[in-house]
Amino acid sequence: MDDIHVVVLRAERLDPLDGWGDEEAVESVVNAMVLCGIRAESKLVRSVHDLERYRDRPGLLAFPHSRRLSSAESLIEPLEAWGVPLVGSGSTGLAAQHKGNAKRLLAKAGVPTPAYALADHQMDPRSLVARLGLPLVVKPVAGAESVGVVKCDDLSSLRAALRTPGLLVEEWKRHRELTVAILGNGGDRIAAPAEVVLPDAQYFLDVTTKRERITSTLAPAPDDEVTREAVAAALEACRILDVRDWARVDVLIDHDGKPYVIDVNAMPGMRRSTDHPSYLPWCFALDQGMPYHQVVSTVIGAAAARCGQYDGFQPGAEAARRGLVPTAQQGPNASC
Ligand SMILES: Nc1ncnc2c1ncn2[C@@H]1O[C@H](COP(=O)(O)OP(=O)(O)O)[C@@H](O)[C@H]1O
Ligand SMILES: [Mg+2]
Repeated sequence: MDDIHVVVLRAERLDPLDGWGDEEAVESVVNAMVLCGIRAESKLVRSVHDLERYRDRPGLLAFPHSRRLSSAESLIEPLEAWGVPLVGSGSTGLAAQHKGNAKRLLAKAGVPTPAYALADHQMDPRSLVARLGLPLVVKPVAGAESVGVVKCDDLSSLRAALRTPGLLVEEWKRHRELTVAILGNGGDRIAAPAEVVLPDAQYFLDVTTKRERITSTLAPAPDDEVTREAVAAALEACRILDVRDWARVDVLIDHDGKPYVIDVNAMPGMRRSTDHPSYLPWCFALDQGMPYHQVVSTVIGAAAARCGQYDGFQPGAEAARRGLVPTAQQGPNASC
């Protein structure tokens, strides 16, 4: 594995709505790679000019921490244009972060997703209600972390919600909610579904819950047909949207047990902290007892295999040699 060198490329200011986590997450991911015998480090990138040094470096896998360096500069696109092998999705997969794009492609491919409209403040709320019914969900078309997501029960709350630009209005489908963490590519993808279980008076997964109560509101998904259908829809969404190496897909389940894909996160969070972990590593911990470092090494292994030039790399082989591969008893916090 000496021939692989993973460089996490991070912007100066880590944007919580663009990227896979805070300083602690970056440090945890690098530490996990090192633990698994992968040569890894993180590097600060101040401008596209700084990225040039990662061109034409055999054996290098660039692991972008975010889509953008700043509001004006992409981190992914220059690397992609130079043919630098990347960990995670390229610009096509990351276009899934635009919920309007993603839903259009999913609906066209027959992946179930709630009916929707792209709205603006000039739109007549009555025509939206006539088409999509009540209640409705209004959310930013390119949002994350539930910021700006609103449930509208009547015309006046919808009218008020529509004052903001850049919105998607969606049919309400939440009876239950699963989030499906995914690692790998093609037929080798593995999925870890978990159920979001909210207190009775809470109708959807809001900003506060995501900031403070992830572990207490996430439970193992039942092993049944509904979960299997939700996982199948999530995997199909990744295939259609060309999402690579890792993802987390939110799937609502309606009263009839039918799944609806609402959100495909192509750059999911990677906080490690056991008090407040990110969903993806926590889903793998709950569903498969997979420890954090193995989640990370599986992402890298998937990227290495996909890039084709790293035949010698076997994800987890070094971890296995060191006795770090999890057993069912080890659980999420298995010490490294
Ligand atoms: N169509 C919908 N019906 C009911 N609840 C929804 C719907 N869309 C989103 N939600 C709720 O809002 C939360 C955030 O929406 P989501 O589309 O996942 O945006 P974000 O990118 O901010 O996570 C979801 O986890 C779910 O609880
Ligand atoms: Mg979501």
